[in-house]
Amino acid sequence: MTILLIDGSSRPNSNSAAFGERLLVGLPHQTIHLASAHLNFEHDYRETNHPQGDPSDDYDHLMAQFLAAETIVLSTPVYWYNMSGQLKVFLDRWFDSFTHGVSFAGHRLSLLIVGADDPVHKAQPVIEQSVKLSCDWLKMTFLGTATAVADLPGDIQKLPTLPADAQKLRQILTLTTD
Ligand SMILES: Cc1cc2nc3c(=O)[nH]c(=O)nc-3n(C[C@H](O)[C@H](O)[C@H](O)COP(=O)(O)O)c2cc1C
Repeated sequence: MTILLIDGSSRPNSNSAAFGERLLVGLPHQTIHLASAHLNFEHDYRETNHPQGDPSDDYDHLMAQFLAAETIVLSTPVYWYNMSGQLKVFLDRWFDSFTHGVSFAGHRLSLLIVGADDPVHKAQPVIEQSVKLSCDWLKMTFLGTATAVADLPGDIQKLPTLPADAQKLRQILTLTTD
């Protein structure tokens, strides 16, 4: 079963993508770089006659790939102690799909976080909480989080080993994709 890795960074050769690729080495997966996609902000049309959604950008295409995957790995840099705007906008846009009756149930999500300033203590709780609660609300299974300290491009490749939480997450992903 193929895993979908979603790189939420805004830069090429991102640590977020590198973390995901290192985590998933040897496991069948596809990678989406949100920075390469055209994604508009969410617009809440609930109290208007406008249909909820925006067919003018890449969201529907991204979401088709999301829904085709049973297991998804979200990977984000820490931006101001939270997830990147790119990833947040993608998550906000889930509301469009939800409004149109799309079921998220049964999909399995995990989360990778990369930051420079003590991300385990300063960013992970906030990001993990929002992703976990969103999974609960949308009836997706949350598989876990792994966090790495990295700043410059190439920092992830220089880590001698994956952090312990990433090794644990890899085991879970290996079992769930067998
Ligand atoms: C706009 C911006 C805000 C950032 N804010 C934080 C932050 O709040 N905490 C932190 O630990 N690192 C922060 N960083 C550093 C990045 O998280 C770090 O460089 C990370 O490795 C970038 O990952 P990427 O290569 O996947 O984009 C910030 C970087 C940028 C560009």
